[in-house]
Amino acid sequence: MMRTAHLLPNFRSSFLPSSARVARPLRPCSARFTHRSISSSTSSRTSDSSSTRQLRDAQNKNTESPLAPIGVAAAVQAKQDPSSVPARPKIFDEFALRDRVGIVSGGNNGLGLEMAMALCEAGARAVYTFDVEPEPSEDWVAVKEFVEKMGSRLEYANVDVTDQKKVWEHGDIIGDKEGRMDFCVAAAGVMEPHTPCLGYTAEQYRRVTSINCDGALFTAQAAGRQMERFGLPGSIVLIASMSGSITNQGDARVAYNSSKSAVIQMARSLACELAPLNIRVNSLSPGHIYTKLTAQYLDTDPGLLDKWSNLNPMGRIGRIDEIRGPIIW
Ligand SMILES: NC(=O)c1ccc[n+]([C@@H]2O[C@H](COP(=O)([O-])OP(=O)(O)OC[C@H]3O[C@@H](n4cnc5c(N)ncnc54)[C@H](O)[C@@H]3O)[C@@H](O)[C@H]2O)c1
Repeated sequence: MMRTAHLLPNFRSSFLPSSARVARPLRPCSARFTHRSISSSTSSRTSDSSSTRQLRDAQNKNTESPLAPIGVAAAVQAKQDPSSVPARPKIFDEFALRDRVGIVSGGNNGLGLEMAMALCEAGARAVYTFDVEPEPSEDWVAVKEFVEKMGSRLEYANVDVTDQKKVWEHGDIIGDKEGRMDFCVAAAGVMEPHTPCLGYTAEQYRRVTSINCDGALFTAQAAGRQMERFGLPGSIVLIASMSGSITNQGDARVAYNSSKSAVIQMARSLACELAPLNIRVNSLSPGHIYTKLTAQYLDTDPGLLDKWSNLNPMGRIGRIDEIRGPIIW
């Protein structure tokens, strides 16, 4: 389970309007401001005709869903002419990633691999996992074989996300081979052992921030550059953490926490810059989930699972599969 309280604000805080999830044509930032001015005009004393005009202008500035008519508009149209719109669910089509191509960094294990698999299941043509480990894990191989049977492809590249040149080069290679780039999940990350902040060495600090923070930027750049190259709308998700918004009591992890805060702000910054290219950027902030990253502490400290579970309103830590839905969004 993710910590909803942290997940939702981050989903929304760096959120750019989610009109049209399939072809991802996004409303530019200005559409949001237009919307805001409409709400305020509703409560002001402007005449009806003026607010109606503003509403119509705003609607004209919106893009149309590639699945249109959709939602209430589909129902209304069907009522007027039942033969024009068959009553069939479109909600899953909105989340389908048919023929899409993307990158997942840190995809050899844990959350990265789980999300890579979910993206394959959602219909992606190919998901390229970047990881610092030279060889794919047994789990990775199992997933590759499994998704192949669903008609999807999982690819592995030994890429250290702190090496900007190499990350960009691999983005180019994917673009050359696939002729497109649609999504990116920057999940590569490390969490250092407890280290009191006053004794934190520059070397330790730089290692964590360079993987968690610089690496997230370089990965997003690699994908974004290909999206721009092919003129395609896209979606980039940076995996942050609840620790980017709060500090868990008793955690002595200034580098991790600071790096994740930076990732949250990085997503907002990229989101505003890339919106004109129709590229959405969000950050996702999971709570505690059992993976290799947390196992090193959970497996060695007998009281830690209870402690982390009790910090969570649901009384348990997250399950890894609970990240599948949010990442497809
Ligand atoms: N597990 C949790 O409780 C939790 C909670 C919040 C956030 N997160 C974040 O989720 C992400 C994934 O974590 P996880 O729990 O799956 O950990 P994990 O250790 O299972 O997976 C992380 C992956 O990143 C790879 N990696 C590490 N350094 C790299 C580098 N320089 N270049 C490329 N790959 C590198 C590792 O080899 C590994 O495969 C991380 O960013 C982590 O901070 C995890």
